[in-house]
Amino acid sequence: ENPLVIAIDGASGSGKSSTARGVAKRLGLAYLDTGAMYRAVTVAYLDSGVDGSDPAAVTAAVEAAQIEIATDPDDQWVRVNGRDVTDEIRSQRTSTHVSTVAVIPECRANLVARQRAIIESAPNGIVAEGRDITTVVAPDADVRLLLSADPEVRMARRKLDHGGQIDDAALRDQILRRDADDSTLVDFTTAADGVVHLDGSFMTLEQTIDAVVGLAERAL
Ligand code: C5P
Repeated sequence: ENPLVIAIDGASGSGKSSTARGVAKRLGLAYLDTGAMYRAVTVAYLDSGVDGSDPAAVTAAVEAAQIEIATDPDDQWVRVNGRDVTDEIRSQRTSTHVSTVAVIPECRANLVARQRAIIESAPNGIVAEGRDITTVVAPDADVRLLLSADPEVRMARRKLDHGGQIDDAALRDQILRRDADDSTLVDFTTAADGVVHLDGSFMTLEQTIDAVVGLAERAL
């Protein structure tokens, strides 16, 4: 009896994090936010002061970074090189530079290996979310889901996340520019073979969680 693995991919603001956390809570599974790992090593590389235009130097900083990440869906934190960076990984500075790391194949390989180790060591199963979980990190997952939402809907949700206190230019940067950057990494807008595509644009969070739990029950 292998522990259940649920893989969820989607763009920023697609609702994948809230959905993944909600599903993990409902089913008593661990939760892995792989984006937080990309963000954490971005903080490490920025702290190290290496030149962002030198992929070998960035890779060395990423490979040397020690990451500790919580997998409790109710208590999320991340530490890099012993320092708590839970808040810092959400800063505009981190968001702006994360693609520097994410576009380097050696950095991705390093993070993918760490992510697989975390998934394999979750005794009671796990919900992992990101951009390449259904295709690269855990292609053998029991449930593989691509969650999408219209850009307008994603921007509106992100604005709500910020309590309305974000200007439209920053919002577009967070959603549209990151879409463009991330689209060069992996194709997370079309579902790969065997991956269920769910458009959550006009679904509530509860409805989306229900749908994923339904898929998980069928997979058991
Ligand atoms: O999910 P989140 O928006 O926090 O991810 C931050 C960034 O990390 C993404 O914009 C993307 O560049 C990168 N990422 C990735 N592969 C993943 C998760 C995140 O390339 N599995």
